[in-house]
Amino acid sequence: MIPIDCSVDFSQSLAISMKQFLLPYLICPACLPAETPLEVRVNQMKADDIITGELSCKKCRRRFPIKNGIAILLSESNDYRAVGQLRYEESTMTDRYLWSHYGDLLGLDDYGDAHTHWAAALSCHPSLPSFDAGCAVGRLTFEMAVRSSFAVGCDLSHGFVKAARRLARDGEMTFSLPQEGNLRESFTLTLPESLRSDTIEFVVADALRIPFAANSFSQVASLNLLDRVSYPLAHLFEMSRVADNENASFLFADPFSWSPDVTPEEFWLGGTTTGPYQGRGLDNVRSILEGKGNILKPAWSISRSGTIPWNMRTHCNHCEVIRSQYLVAAR
Ligand SMILES: C[S@@+](CC[C@H](N)C(=O)[O-])C[C@H]1O[C@@H](n2cnc3c(N)ncnc32)[C@H](O)[C@@H]1O
Repeated sequence: MIPIDCSVDFSQSLAISMKQFLLPYLICPACLPAETPLEVRVNQMKADDIITGELSCKKCRRRFPIKNGIAILLSESNDYRAVGQLRYEESTMTDRYLWSHYGDLLGLDDYGDAHTHWAAALSCHPSLPSFDAGCAVGRLTFEMAVRSSFAVGCDLSHGFVKAARRLARDGEMTFSLPQEGNLRESFTLTLPESLRSDTIEFVVADALRIPFAANSFSQVASLNLLDRVSYPLAHLFEMSRVADNENASFLFADPFSWSPDVTPEEFWLGGTTTGPYQGRGLDNVRSILEGKGNILKPAWSISRSGTIPWNMRTHCNHCEVIRSQYLVAAR
């Protein structure tokens, strides 16, 4: 059941806002595990976007701003400044991720085809919604949106969410990366019609406290995020909670680059020789999804697994190749 807050008077909106399709699904991230619907107050709208406003929780009284069209749905404002996360706010990182996500659309021959593989592993339903956790600059979310009733991407990085929303709005953007030394190379990215969609939204939110009601999505994805969060098991729990109980697909992938700077070692789901999650990350995630410890209910069945390499460019002669191990699960 999706909680709908009847106190919100949508007829007051000047137009169908992009966020309007999200409103019935939103809950207060601070009240979790209790699911409290949020109320919306619109201050300013432009075309079909809420530009400024506020979402608020009647129960805990927390307020979540909508600024420059971006809903910021974080439960605590000072939790997200970890050293590892701050680097995702640098503009160079946005440019590197734009290259990594959209390089195929730029016709680059040194670019891999990871997103073709990620998109092929989706099982979106055209009349049901999808969710992309840790979406960065949004390529997978765009792939989901054209296959779903709507798609929403969430990320902690304001810079990434801003770039993804701009791409959704304008259909194109320009960015640059170092070519060599101080020389830069410019790229103009144009989103093809096949990826353009009005039913897409990006929010700033924490994948450990997902501000959506249980059973909201039929397709969920977590790509390369598990080893970037402070509590990986909580992330899997949250993904499983927002996925539909009876008809859902979960695309999961990670390179399992465990680091104590990001995740306390006792919370790693692999890469150790002791504890309940000793051994390899992929094996442990597989058994957690399949029901180990009765943490995820209902459990998932794994239908596919494999490895997909993807690239991050630093300059024209230097590229990092990351191998992500993936699972496709269904229930
Ligand atoms: C390694 S990147 C992967 C991005 C994208 N999914 C991909 O595969 O290209 C990790 C992303 O997760 C985001 N992130 C890290 N911790 C997060 C959290 N707790 N909630 C939401 N996003 C988070 C970062 O800002 C970054 O965009």
